[in-house]
Amino acid sequence: MHKIKEELENKNILLGVTGGIAAYKALEVVSRLKKLGAEVDVIMTEAAKEFVQPLSFRSLSHNPVIVDMFSEPKQWNVKHISLAEKADICLVAPATANIVGKIANGIADDMLSTTVMATNAPVLLAPAMNCNMYSNPIFQQNLDRLRGLGYYLIKPDAGYLACGTEGKGRLPAPSRIVENVVEQLTKEKDLTGQQVMITAGGTQEPIDPVRFIGNHSSGKMGYAIAREAVKRGAEVTLITASTSLQPPSGIEIIQVETAQQMYESVMKLQVEQDVIIKAAAVADYRPQVVAEDKIKKDESELVIKLERNPDILAELGRVKEEKLLIGFAAESEDLIANAKDKLSRKNLDLIVANDITADDAGFGADTNRVVMISRTDKTELPTLSKEEVANRLLGRIIELLEGTGEKNGD
Ligand SMILES: Cc1cc2nc3c(=O)[nH]c(=O)nc-3n(C[C@H](O)[C@H](O)[C@H](O)COP(=O)(O)O)c2cc1C
Repeated sequence: MHKIKEELENKNILLGVTGGIAAYKALEVVSRLKKLGAEVDVIMTEAAKEFVQPLSFRSLSHNPVIVDMFSEPKQWNVKHISLAEKADICLVAPATANIVGKIANGIADDMLSTTVMATNAPVLLAPAMNCNMYSNPIFQQNLDRLRGLGYYLIKPDAGYLACGTEGKGRLPAPSRIVENVVEQLTKEKDLTGQQVMITAGGTQEPIDPVRFIGNHSSGKMGYAIAREAVKRGAEVTLITASTSLQPPSGIEIIQVETAQQMYESVMKLQVEQDVIIKAAAVADYRPQVVAEDKIKKDESELVIKLERNPDILAELGRVKEEKLLIGFAAESEDLIANAKDKLSRKNLDLIVANDITADDAGFGADTNRVVMISRTDKTELPTLSKEEVANRLLGRIIELLEGTGEKNGD
């Protein structure tokens, strides 16, 4: 508690309160942040004022509460810019479906949405709403977009909702929201100065101009690692095969299609990397001949002869020198034995193994359940969000970089 207090002292927290039934809980958030020594500025939307009086926030924050963008300024500065610049972190709690939609789509039509657009501080959103609103695909797409752009999201709780239904959409307890703020503010930039290359997505091997051999990889795990690595200060290069994901911001992105193209990009850039994480699903084989025209069907069987693609991971293992090399093993049987075999055959420092037959792990899922295996130890993680798996993996990588874990080939 004492350490947290020290860390929050003199931090400027900008709290946006929007028009949700849980707006009253934001009062306790302010009170807790103030007790921890933070300076809190509150912006309320017009709708939020229908739920809680600005006076309550003013009393708890000891600062004027801002609602109107065009009111007469008390001092000569443009308020949405000065608040945006002053903030060490911007928290929106509760965040309505409306504000999430506005931020995701670049709409800045009131004090809060304009300030969020103008800030360079990390933005933490705590969505809260009726469960049907929460599961609405448009809202979910907006969340995905924001996640991809580096916004932080606090997951809502499931349970009894004020509208009388049960489901996902409750604003988490103020203590949990404050924990998230503290975590963001104290997050170490422990990968600063490290060049990290990540591969993601599933390669596509053309058969003819309209068909290809592909796989079910969604790219979510690799993209999550890229996002988390950049937040921790790394210089990230993402070499990505096909996905439907929003490319994370703040990183160099190289788009490829085939395994051969991925091989060429990886080998060209590998020399300057400190860490290489191969999370892409790369086709082992490709059609030996790619038909120039679309193959027409007839009554006979169609035989497509396949030839080997380069083994990118094995090639990296051969040339890796001092850099850290991390692979993924997506297995459907003998998970640990197969992963250990791949670790030593390909000269890896760490392998992340997951059972792709499990419901809560592998392709397409938002969660993953993995085992991290190095030469000397094995860490089994519970089912976690892909972001959290990414963070645990990066934590382990930092141990290896610092030499607090063994490094293969030393
Ligand atoms: C009683 C009541 C409760 C509401 N609760 C929520 C809510 O929990 N979450 C939400 O997204 N919208 C909720 N709304 C709808 C928002 O108030 C509405 O979309 C509003 O335009 C949001 O504006 P703002 O995002 O600018 O605050 C509620 C509306 C009413 C009348």
